Amino acid sequence: MKTSQTIAFLGGQWGDEGKGKIVDWAAQNSDICARATGGNNAGHTVIVKDKKYVFHLLPSAITHAKVQCLLGNGMVMDLFVLLKEINLLQDQGFTLDNLKISSQAHVILPFHKLIEHYKESNSSKKIGTTKRGIGPCYADKINRCGITVADLYDFQSLKQHLHTQYTDLKQALSNKYNLLPDEFDHDLIQMLPAQYHPPKDTNIVEHLTNLYMQIAIYLSKFIVCGISLLAKARSANKQVVLEGAQGLFLDIDHGTYPYVTSSNPSIGGMLTGLGIPKVDHTYSIIKAYTTRVGEGSFVCELGDYQKVKKESQLETITPEQIQDAHQKMLQSDDYQTGLYMRLKGKEYGATTGRPRRCGWLDGLMLKHCVTVNGPNIIITKLDVLSDIPELKICTSYVYKGAPINYQGQLLMNGSIIKEFPLNEKILSRCEPHTYETIEGFSGDISNSKSLQELPLSAQKYLQAIEQISGAKICVVSVGPERSQTINMQPESILLSKNMQVLPSNKHF
Ligand code: GDP
Ligand code: IMO
Ligand code: MG
Repeated sequence: MKTSQTIAFLGGQWGDEGKGKIVDWAAQNSDICARATGGNNAGHTVIVKDKKYVFHLLPSAITHAKVQCLLGNGMVMDLFVLLKEINLLQDQGFTLDNLKISSQAHVILPFHKLIEHYKESNSSKKIGTTKRGIGPCYADKINRCGITVADLYDFQSLKQHLHTQYTDLKQALSNKYNLLPDEFDHDLIQMLPAQYHPPKDTNIVEHLTNLYMQIAIYLSKFIVCGISLLAKARSANKQVVLEGAQGLFLDIDHGTYPYVTSSNPSIGGMLTGLGIPKVDHTYSIIKAYTTRVGEGSFVCELGDYQKVKKESQLETITPEQIQDAHQKMLQSDDYQTGLYMRLKGKEYGATTGRPRRCGWLDGLMLKHCVTVNGPNIIITKLDVLSDIPELKICTSYVYKGAPINYQGQLLMNGSIIKEFPLNEKILSRCEPHTYETIEGFSGDISNSKSLQELPLSAQKYLQAIEQISGAKICVVSVGPERSQTINMQPESILLSKNMQVLPSNKHF
């Protein structure tokens, strides 16, 4: 008999691991796909019949009409972005009858975006956020002065809320940043998409209240109680896929604080964000190398971040550019290897377009991921590593700096570190100490349908990942499309209607 299973797919690094691709693939035969945390800081890419979609809020299974897609309680949402995503899909013929929005999710207001805009532009200690208002919205939520989707339907208190936020913030920001009288209003309006700007001399609070009232009325057909939707699904033996956003190392509690996001992308966030008692299987998605967007230490980074920052966003990447980077990589330094990964892997932010910093896979990060999220992992973008002569996985760091007390021990200049230090000061003073080096593989592997079809050295690379991390690789992705996915458990087809508990067999 079919029993209900809840399966989570989480980012295992600093985001952009390919969660969108894997969730779209895995959810094909499921009944529900739910997002639990984060907001439109996420950018999840899905390719459906040669068409590319980038979802910031909508769950990545949304194009599967039979899969109900839930935006859960733990999320924060810019409703203008949500409307845009809904309209875009409706214009392409999707009915979106499968979209469900939890009434308890929080709403990102233009005020939140403005706070972040000023903070990131004026602070000497930038986080490098996506500037989508995520942190300030979660801050209001924790301060118990946020606004939920349900709150939008009490129009009187909605207006009061917007009025209070407007006047309080105007005073606070004007004082802090010496704003001229109209400057605040001008900047606030810029936080809205152009088509929603108020006509000249309109009262801004009135304008915002009207906008949110209209949006609330429009969205009402999608609003549900997320908790009971999932509870009923489990009682009815439905298959539930949970879509992580961001990644473990961006987790506010278990990541590289303060260079993190303001939610819990790790497994715990799934439970609190959705109000469910358990998850049956958890898969951390790991890119075959490491990338990071924004500030913060990155021990295994290839090349200098300041140089990467100066690179422009590339709209289209030509084969000639990749070839050129490949030639330079063979002659030159780490930066060129990182650049080759960036170009070949199209590592440019799906939300902000920023070039992603690239580096080798980090065994210390992998072990931390196994500890927090469990042992099952999915490797993506293996194809990007082809034609790199040698592949490396970091196995230890060396601390370089003044003695410092860390977790009751004195770290000295030259101390060897084998467990990922969750402390920015220490991380910023660490360098890679030992790497396991694996012979590279060449050629196009994106049509490989099984582990055995992969070049032997690619298999050895996967084997090294398992050995160093203690993880079990369950799926390998060799291209951005659904079909470019190698399921390592063919005997219990992952996420089929009759899915069974995955066996813990060894592949190697
Ligand atoms: P997410 O935020 O984790 O969903 O990841 P993004 O969508 O931001 O970035 C992943 C990028 O890699 C997207 O452009 C995907 O289409 C692409 N992608 C996913 N899996 C693979 C893969 O196995 N190989 C290649 N070459 N690209 C992939
Ligand atoms: P997906 O779901 C990569 C990063 C930002 C910044 C930090 C804080 O596509 O993997 P925030 O705007 O959340 O306050 O920014 O977190 N960040 C991401 N990096 N992928 C993401 O999402 C990210 N969401 C946030 O770049 O460093
Ligand atoms: Mg992304």
